[in-house]
Amino acid sequence: MPIETTATVVAEVPDDAELLAVPYASDLSPGVELPLPVSGLLAHYEAKGEAGEIVEVPVARAGGVGRVLLYGVGDGSPKALRTAAAGLTRKARGRDTLTVVTPDADVAPFAEAALLAAYTFRIGGAGRKAVRELVFAGADEERVRRAETVARAVALARDLANTPASVKNPAWLAEQAAGSGLPVRVWDEDELRAGGFGGILAVGRGSVSPPRLIQLSYTPQEPAERHVVLVGKGITFDSGGLSLKPTANMKFQKTDMAGGAVVIAVLGALAALKAPVRVTGLIAAAENMPSGTSQRPSDVITHYGGRTVEVLNTDAEGRLVLADALAYADAELDPDAVVDIATLTGAITVALGRNVGAVYASDDVLAKQLVESGQAADDRLWRMPLIEDYTPALESSVADLANVESGSTFGAGSITAALFLREFAGERPWAHLDIAGVGRSTVDEGVLTKGATGFGVRLLLEWLTTS
Ligand code: BES
Ligand code: MN
Ligand code: ZN
Repeated sequence: MPIETTATVVAEVPDDAELLAVPYASDLSPGVELPLPVSGLLAHYEAKGEAGEIVEVPVARAGGVGRVLLYGVGDGSPKALRTAAAGLTRKARGRDTLTVVTPDADVAPFAEAALLAAYTFRIGGAGRKAVRELVFAGADEERVRRAETVARAVALARDLANTPASVKNPAWLAEQAAGSGLPVRVWDEDELRAGGFGGILAVGRGSVSPPRLIQLSYTPQEPAERHVVLVGKGITFDSGGLSLKPTANMKFQKTDMAGGAVVIAVLGALAALKAPVRVTGLIAAAENMPSGTSQRPSDVITHYGGRTVEVLNTDAEGRLVLADALAYADAELDPDAVVDIATLTGAITVALGRNVGAVYASDDVLAKQLVESGQAADDRLWRMPLIEDYTPALESSVADLANVESGSTFGAGSITAALFLREFAGERPWAHLDIAGVGRSTVDEGVLTKGATGFGVRLLLEWLTTS
């Protein structure tokens, strides 16, 4: 299910607005009769004006008693407006229409958060529905439409990642990508073999659902100066393979294609946002399963481009599928920058927790742009170091590289994973986003719903449309 709530823009508050939300600061529209002046009401409710604060007051209306939601906007920053908007949508759950007099600021972050907070994913009819319609009164229509495009892209990424792995497999993911309407190229198993994509094949060989490499292409109307390649990890289920995960860790691994979902959703939104860059999306899709045909710990595989890797742990599979895609992008696509996005390591959750994603980069300008875009778009990133001293962690006695450290001399699981990927990214500006911590939410709060978050969609769309 995408966001079922619709967004409408009207010039003025309609007289018959069922539920009306008004920021503390603004004058109330005519036709609404409050029991006290606004200042008196706020004092009565001891309201401070913080973002997220909502005071519900009964008002006399032509047909009886209506309600007005007076809402705080804090310091009026985009962050505060997002909190305020998400709170209003949540407050209006189960209602038909919420009419909002929008704050006196750019309405895009506000409208985006209001829509995102309406996101739900349910299979079956249970649960209270989000508000059916959001009406933004007095808002800039173009900014609302931009916000809606972004919010619906985030919702698509969430839907793909929330879909059970009994439904989604690599071929299904390829069909979803094709649904974007963009030119798509899909490598099936035979084509992957012919092309030398040994990492994707090795990870996928234990599953009855064979792997795929999916390529989506966006070309802007005007000739583009830059070409960006986005690479997403598309593990439709990560059981760990023969290096099997314990039950407690395995049940969350249907979202291990969250990076690939972000790439599909971003590519699908670029045309509507008139992004001025050429973008190629690559989704390396496989299901990591244990079986008689699985790869084994100690197997040596040959990646796209010829590099060999000793697989010491089949649960470090994300880097294996990404390595092929990164090497392919470098050899064949001639990009100006490559950004990969992956739920790569549990270790990054230890380092940065659930609110901030990691960015590793070979290029300072690229790192800065991504961090700033994340800040602006509310997908926060923290730059992590590629510590050179740790590169010996991935030495192998039988192959060019090992996929994990065999001992525990170095640790730093997210950093060594990034160092592994760097080996395949070539000399071009490259960044790696480890979203294992932020890709899934454990709470229903603000713009987040329990389950997949779509982290990365807003930041990449911001980056691709502004820098
Ligand atoms: N998909 C996992 C990482 C992950 C963990 C994502 C938790 C979301 C939540 C990844 O493939 C993995 O298994 N990583 C291993 C690497 C280890 C074997 C070096 C990990 O983090 O334990
Ligand atoms: Mn794994
Ligand atoms: Zn994984």
